Amino acid sequence: MRFERSPLGVGVVGLGYWGPNLLRGLMELPDVEVRYICDLDQERLSTLGRRCPSATATDRYEELLGDPQLAAIVIATPVFTHFELAAASLQADKHTFVEKPFAPSTAQASELIGLAEARDLRLMCGQTFLYSPPVREVKRLIDTDELGDIFFVSSSRVNLGLHQRDVSVIWDLGPHDFSILLHWLEEMPESITAVGRDSIVPGIHDVAFMTMQFPSGILANVELSWLAPSKLRRTAIVGSNKMVVYEDGTAEPVRVFDRGVEYRDPETFGEYQLSYRSGDIRSPMIPSTEPLVTELAEFVRLIRTRETSADLELARHVVMLVEAAESSLAGGGVPVAVATGASTQAPIAA
Ligand SMILES: NC(=O)c1ccc[n+]([C@@H]2O[C@H](COP(=O)([O-])OP(=O)(O)OC[C@H]3O[C@@H](n4cnc5c(N)ncnc54)[C@H](O)[C@@H]3O)[C@@H](O)[C@H]2O)c1
Repeated sequence: MRFERSPLGVGVVGLGYWGPNLLRGLMELPDVEVRYICDLDQERLSTLGRRCPSATATDRYEELLGDPQLAAIVIATPVFTHFELAAASLQADKHTFVEKPFAPSTAQASELIGLAEARDLRLMCGQTFLYSPPVREVKRLIDTDELGDIFFVSSSRVNLGLHQRDVSVIWDLGPHDFSILLHWLEEMPESITAVGRDSIVPGIHDVAFMTMQFPSGILANVELSWLAPSKLRRTAIVGSNKMVVYEDGTAEPVRVFDRGVEYRDPETFGEYQLSYRSGDIRSPMIPSTEPLVTELAEFVRLIRTRETSADLELARHVVMLVEAAESSLAGGGVPVAVATGASTQAPIAA
């Protein structure tokens, strides 16, 4: 006898720029039936309704919450609605996937985790880059010690991109780099500094330069901008053995450079020696799986197996980093302790 599993009923909320991608990804999964699409905008509802005619199109979120047949809700609305919508979804006993950044504050992120635990529901945050094959390959290179001790990481994520109306470039693009760094390095920075500028829209920073100090000594620098002549998503990881350049969206997204400099202790005072190594450049084979589909398949797997997402705490830490970076930005670039959100600089005595 064969036992057929009924498909998982899912509703997608928020059909702006990113929601349609999630909708497409869900429609590709064999185990899922998209039962609702929801947006406040009627035009988006009718456009996306044509792509997914079997789903009920509604501007009333309560309709999804009230349907006992609906198992899960996927949320892709603006950042400052994430907590309210995700909390309501969990309170209505729906498994919940919420886009990055997890919540508008660390306290709210913790509250969502608590709600999911208390109601035994699966909760996941859409940190797409954690499912990106090049990011995973770099993680493998770090974990297998091929790079040696990591000295520093330097990253640029710039584009002539969509200006968000309600949040800074740190809330918008920062979660990508923060999640990647926490995943690779498995440690939280002690402190962060951020400077930036609201070049176009007053009060909305469209460029930010951030520096993080990790307890192990690793230094990371991240440049974010919606104002750049061309799109660049490039990270260099410099280790004691090798160096890596990860450049998303290129033909060779990961290149491993067998390059470095060795320092030999001076035999006599002032006579230290440096030896330079410049070996092969290798470009590992990277699978071509789509991160978004892998990520949604993971959400479905968690629901089916009742496992807890391994990256929820990471998602909460990402929000903590965004808050600390915003606090540094507001203070004109003072170093901010990530754990407390307070400046690490003693006030200058009068
Ligand atoms: N994972 C990724 O790579 C990635 C990429 C882009 C955006 N995002 C995230 O996706 C989310 C959405 O970003 P976006 O750029 O698509 O925003 P957007 O402004 O283009 O779209 C948001 C949509 O949500 C709708 N909406 C707002 N409040 C709603 C409510 N209460 N009920 C129903 N619909 C509502 C709006 O009408 C709009 O259509 C953000 O959290 C963003 O950070 C993630």
